[in-house]
Amino acid sequence: MNSLTIHQPDDWHVHLRDGDMLKAVLPATAAHFGRAIIMPNLVPPVVTTAQAEAYRGRIQTALPTGSEFMPLMTLYMTDDTDADDVIAGYQAGVVKAVKLYPQHATTNSHFGISDITRAYPVLERMEAAGVPLLMHGEVTDPQVDIFDREAVFLERIFDPLVRRFAGLKVTLEHVTTQEGVDYIIAARAGIGASVTPHHLMFNRNAIFQGGIRPHYYCLPIAKREQHRLALRRAVTSGNPRFFLGTDTAPHTRTAKEAACGCAGLYVAPVALATYAQVFDEEGALDKLEAFASLNGPRHYGMPVNARRITLHREQRFVAEDVSVAGEEAVHIYRGGESVGWRVEVHA
Ligand code: NCD
Ligand code: ZN
Repeated sequence: MNSLTIHQPDDWHVHLRDGDMLKAVLPATAAHFGRAIIMPNLVPPVVTTAQAEAYRGRIQTALPTGSEFMPLMTLYMTDDTDADDVIAGYQAGVVKAVKLYPQHATTNSHFGISDITRAYPVLERMEAAGVPLLMHGEVTDPQVDIFDREAVFLERIFDPLVRRFAGLKVTLEHVTTQEGVDYIIAARAGIGASVTPHHLMFNRNAIFQGGIRPHYYCLPIAKREQHRLALRRAVTSGNPRFFLGTDTAPHTRTAKEAACGCAGLYVAPVALATYAQVFDEEGALDKLEAFASLNGPRHYGMPVNARRITLHREQRFVAEDVSVAGEEAVHIYRGGESVGWRVEVHA
């Protein structure tokens, strides 16, 4: 197969940032995807409907002219989240979901939830109103090894939560482990997981290949090879619970190439080419459309995009970096290499 035409994909997990960075990174996401779930971990975070609406306006202003890309806004859950505001924002169509970060789990999560039971009253209201909950699935207990944080999260937090709120729609974001995959496959209805391109591509060895490599450092951290293989089997199985979420998370080179470098990979420019490569390597290109374009809308109860795209098997060189206001550079995942697929978006 040298080309593949599918419904236009959406990206169910994106960090667009703000200001000059937003202007630098938005075009890559808007060029390929119909819609995207916009993560709210700005500084300060997006916690109210009014803030989400203002942020959506800034994104729309930064869009290339003529783009029909649709940002789907989320709220950042804190210990003080106002359930009335969440429900009103959802019913007004401004808020699509609420993101829960355990406190200190990842970039800009210091406002996150300190104790999961503090979120329970809000979750009850979300369950009743049909508002999806998106979870960063890692515990932050310093006693727990960084490579075990997802598995422990499933046991301590995720499982009790999805049982207690049996009607709540929940996404386990960027699943990275065999345990996560197994949990999702066996879970009740209404539970799904997003999977990034990079966790399908490399295991934890990449972070230490001949030295410390900050451009392979993200959270959740890449795991052992057996977990990468489990993720590949899950996405290519055709199971509708797994869907595309790139977790594209740009940071400047200065912020990453540092004594305490930030977590996150800027993957948007090569995301679709990378997923296509993975599905091709697994002999499962026929399953790519479900993962990229159908399963996400189904999980979130939204229509599939009418527009189509064609993936062409074609070598394409990827620039090393994208410039932020001509001052700083963001390294692009796989930048400086060739990738094997080109994306054509139809009118
Ligand atoms: C994300 C970021 O930089 O905002 N970083 C990451 O490593 N994925 C936060 C997140 O999604 O954990
Ligand atoms: Zn993320």
